[in-house]
Amino acid sequence: MRRLVAETRLTVDDLVAPLFVREGISEPAPIESLPGVVQHTRESLRREVAELAALGVPGVILFGVPADKDDQGSGAWDPDGIVQLALGDLRAEVGGDVVLMADLCLDEYTSHGHCGLIGSNGDVDNDATLELYRRVAVAQADAGADVCAPSGMMDGQVGAIRGALDGAGATDVAILAYAAKYASSLYGPFRDAVGVEISGGNGVAGDRRGYQQDWHNARESLVEVRADVTEGADMVMVKPALSYLDVIAATRETVDVPLAAYHVSGEYAMVHAAAQRGWVDLDAVALEQISAIRRAGADFVLTYFARHLAELLTVGGQR
Ligand code: PBG
Repeated sequence: MRRLVAETRLTVDDLVAPLFVREGISEPAPIESLPGVVQHTRESLRREVAELAALGVPGVILFGVPADKDDQGSGAWDPDGIVQLALGDLRAEVGGDVVLMADLCLDEYTSHGHCGLIGSNGDVDNDATLELYRRVAVAQADAGADVCAPSGMMDGQVGAIRGALDGAGATDVAILAYAAKYASSLYGPFRDAVGVEISGGNGVAGDRRGYQQDWHNARESLVEVRADVTEGADMVMVKPALSYLDVIAATRETVDVPLAAYHVSGEYAMVHAAAQRGWVDLDAVALEQISAIRRAGADFVLTYFARHLAELLTVGGQR
């Protein structure tokens, strides 16, 4: 009876796996603050994505960890940059069986850890950054990405990327816009995974409050979401997920494009930390949390639990 009347179902079709690929390592490297997640080599990434495909996971999103960073983040658009090489590998490995998404940002590649170019006043220069994002989009499309997912929260980024992709003939490459992305304290383990320390200038720690959203605000998200759809976003995302279920629900009411939500690194790490102490049941909490994100209105969820949930759901059917 419960199965018959369930309003929300979670299936493997709802999951996207975030994956890290690191340049210049010969063995996968565990990430201490993200139990079960590794920085992949090109070869281990290829195997992981083949296994995810066999489990029926429909999409992955790639993040690169370059061997060297510079003040512009040039590894992000280098045709031989780690994500571009990995996209080529994966296209050859899985063909069209898995949607290949590429996170489109500079922070993994910049020496200062910001998502954009630093201007002469020490702040991120929005419009100069858009020029670099255009290069990244074309490089990712050339390498075989199905979807570019701009996560830097620069104003006008979706329009700029759409223009660059179309200009390069990549009219089929879709855009998943990180539309409502908050300046959250839940990204810490991710920053460990990609080796990012945000500089505030003069040797002090910085933050992203200049370009990511203030978590006091919800209506502001709808302004961001509408702007991204107007600029050509094919899908939009809310991030993080659990502290923003109201924003997910409001976004679902506001636009008709597919809606994603990102269950981020800190959300995942907290479940693991509590489960390790025996304080919560990992599988039960993972199913409850990711289902709640679906219940709030997300069509699909980016989650580090993707593989584990795919295994649970493949055995247990939909939950
Ligand atoms: C930026 C980006 C971040 C995440 C995804 N894309 C980090 C940030 O904004 O600092 C975080 C994802 C997570 O915490 O799981 N390229």
